[in-house]
Amino acid sequence: MEEVTGSSDRVESLEASEPAAATSRTMKAMVQSEYGTADAIQLLEIGMPDIAADEVLLEVHAGGLDRGTLHLMNGQPYLIRLMGYGLRAPKNSVPGLDVAGTVVAIGAEVTRFQVGDDVFGISNGSFAEFASAPEDKLALKPANLSLTEAAVVAVSSLPALQGLRDVARLQAGQSVLVVGASGGVGTYAVQIAKSLGAEVTGVASSGKLDLVRSIGADHVIDYTREDFADGERHYDVILDIGGRSPVSRLRRALAPRGTLVIVGGEGGGRWTGGIGRQLWAMTLSLFIRQRLTTFISKETYVDLEVVKGLLEGGEITPTLDETFAIDRLPEAIDHLESGHARGKIAITVASA
Ligand SMILES: NC(=O)c1ccc[n+]([C@@H]2O[C@H](COP(=O)([O-])OP(=O)(O)OC[C@H]3O[C@@H](n4cnc5c(N)ncnc54)[C@H](OP(=O)(O)O)[C@@H]3O)[C@@H](O)[C@H]2O)c1
Repeated sequence: MEEVTGSSDRVESLEASEPAAATSRTMKAMVQSEYGTADAIQLLEIGMPDIAADEVLLEVHAGGLDRGTLHLMNGQPYLIRLMGYGLRAPKNSVPGLDVAGTVVAIGAEVTRFQVGDDVFGISNGSFAEFASAPEDKLALKPANLSLTEAAVVAVSSLPALQGLRDVARLQAGQSVLVVGASGGVGTYAVQIAKSLGAEVTGVASSGKLDLVRSIGADHVIDYTREDFADGERHYDVILDIGGRSPVSRLRRALAPRGTLVIVGGEGGGRWTGGIGRQLWAMTLSLFIRQRLTTFISKETYVDLEVVKGLLEGGEITPTLDETFAIDRLPEAIDHLESGHARGKIAITVASA
């Protein structure tokens, strides 16, 4: 293995009593020095991440792979490069957002965690043996989940929760259509919508309808055979996560005073990711009775603790697809990009 420099340039600020694991000089990590996905990444021995005063150092058990992580890895749509992630190359050379692991050191201002705590949340690079993470993007691991299961929760459950509860303001008894119900965000959205008392219809491809039913959807629609916007059914809320349907199509399936929440969708173009669809929806919304909107999820521990409660109460469960050892990350990326994943993919670090 080649040695490269560490990925973080922040000042180290650890407690005096840091354990041996936290002070070892190097770690194994998946590293990318340029934008790309499976082809741009390799397992290297690099310096340990530094932590800021409000961060913890985690010994990573597993990370989660999702579409957002892939966007950050390949720097597309290009718009995200202008948002501070690095113009020519990723600023953070270790990818991976979703994480679950054990706290091995804490910054001077950290108050919610101590060394030895098992936590989950969002880190600064989870495809590595160790990762730094802001305290306010972590919560204690749900008692009833393994660390691997906990590693596929945060990134996808937060947009599902916030999209339904805060943006759509979903009420018990309302009907909701989840377009993209078999994916990372969608599998949480179906379950959270049910826990909020809604009647849920999930849209997915033929081979994943069983999954969508198994997580509680009342009805399923196969997007390869049926048109959810055939004018027959109208929903109080539509959560649009997959397929990039035109706004006009989504409106046809929406009740006259219904709410459309656009979460995202792949294939929107290299420059903007097709954000024009969201902008058009918000503009149009000013002139019609339907409410058309979009949002970017907030990475906050307050909602992670809400999700933890739902998990521990048995109201939602992570839909864990395959688990790949860290050195098989390129395979995991292919699996996600090819559309084969059912729910979420975990990347385990232990076997590297
Ligand atoms: N706004 C935010 O804050 C936020 C947060 C997280 C993610 N996102 C975005 O949301 C999108 C989805 O993320 P994800 O992690 O859930 O992705 P994912 O795991 O790949 O899931 C994609 C979903 O879309 C479905 N789908 C694909 N083609 C479709 C079509 N033509 N019609 C209907 N459904 C279709 C898939 O169904 P099958 O697999 O059955 O084909 C799957 O259920 C991504 O673009 C991501 O960047 C936004």
